[in-house]
Amino acid sequence: MLDVANIDLSYGASRCLRGVSVRAEPGKVTAVLGRNGVGKSSLLRAIMGLERVQSGRITWEGRDVTSFPPSERARAGIGYVPQGREIFPFLTVQENLETALAAAPRGSKVSAEVFDLFPILRQFLRRRGGDLSGGQQQQLAIARALCARPRLLILDEPTEGIQPSVIKDIARVIRHLSRDRGMAVVLVEQYYDFARDLADSIAVMVRGEVALAGAAGALDEAAVRRLLTV
Ligand SMILES: Nc1ncnc2c1ncn2[C@@H]1O[C@H](COP(=O)(O)OP(=O)(O)OP(=O)(O)O)[C@@H](O)[C@H]1O
Ligand SMILES: [Mg+2]
Repeated sequence: MLDVANIDLSYGASRCLRGVSVRAEPGKVTAVLGRNGVGKSSLLRAIMGLERVQSGRITWEGRDVTSFPPSERARAGIGYVPQGREIFPFLTVQENLETALAAAPRGSKVSAEVFDLFPILRQFLRRRGGDLSGGQQQQLAIARALCARPRLLILDEPTEGIQPSVIKDIARVIRHLSRDRGMAVVLVEQYYDFARDLADSIAVMVRGEVALAGAAGALDEAAVRRLLTV
C-alpha cells in the first residue's frame, strides 16, 4: 500500500501542499481530482521523489521512502507517467521503451505485454516518438512506465488533449492493470467522468489541500463537481 501521510510542500515561500494525505491499495484506483494549479502534479512529483516534502511521510509497501531519490523509488516499484507525457521525441518508440529498463531487474527486456495492451506501439516501433500523435505518445508514456514492472502506477492527467477513442483504450488498460494485475493506481485527473468510471476512491484537492475524500460510490457527486468547476 501507498500511504501519503500529512505532507507539506513549498516552493520557496509559497506553500503548495498542506497536510495532504492519500492512500492507494493494490488492485484499486485512487483518483485525485482538482482544478488547475491546486497541487495535483506536485503531489505526484512528491510521491515520485522529484520534489522534497518539508514534513509528513510517504510509505510504500511498509517502507518509509520519504527520503528516497526518484531512481530508488522506481526500483522500489513506483512507475510514473508525467503530465504532458515527456517522451523523448528524437528516440524511437523502441528506444523510449528501453529507457525504462534502467529501473527494471538486470537483463530485463521490453515485455511483449505492453504491445498486447497498446498494439499501435508494435506497429510503430521504429518511428520517432515525436512523430506519434498525442494519443499515441500518451500510450507510449504509459507503456514505458510499465516496462519497469511497477506495482504502483501514478498517472498525471492521461486524458489531457486526447481524443475519445484513445481515452477509452487508456481506461481499459488502467482497469486491467488494477483489477486483473493487482496494481495500485493513483490517477490525477480533471476529467471527472473518466475518473469516476475507474476510481475506487476519490480525493478532491482545493488549493493544496484535500477538501473531500472517500469511496467513489459514497461521495456526493454534485459536491465533487462543485469543487471542480467553481
Ligand atoms: N517548480 C515550481 N516552482 C514554483 N511554483 C511551482 C512549481 N511547480 C508548481 N508550482 C506552483 O504550485 C502550484 C501547484 O502546481 P501543480 O502543477 O502541482 O498544480 P496542478 O494541480 O497539477 O495543476 P494543472 O491541473 O494545471 O496541471 C501552482 O500554483 C504552481 O504555479
Ligand atoms: Mg498538473
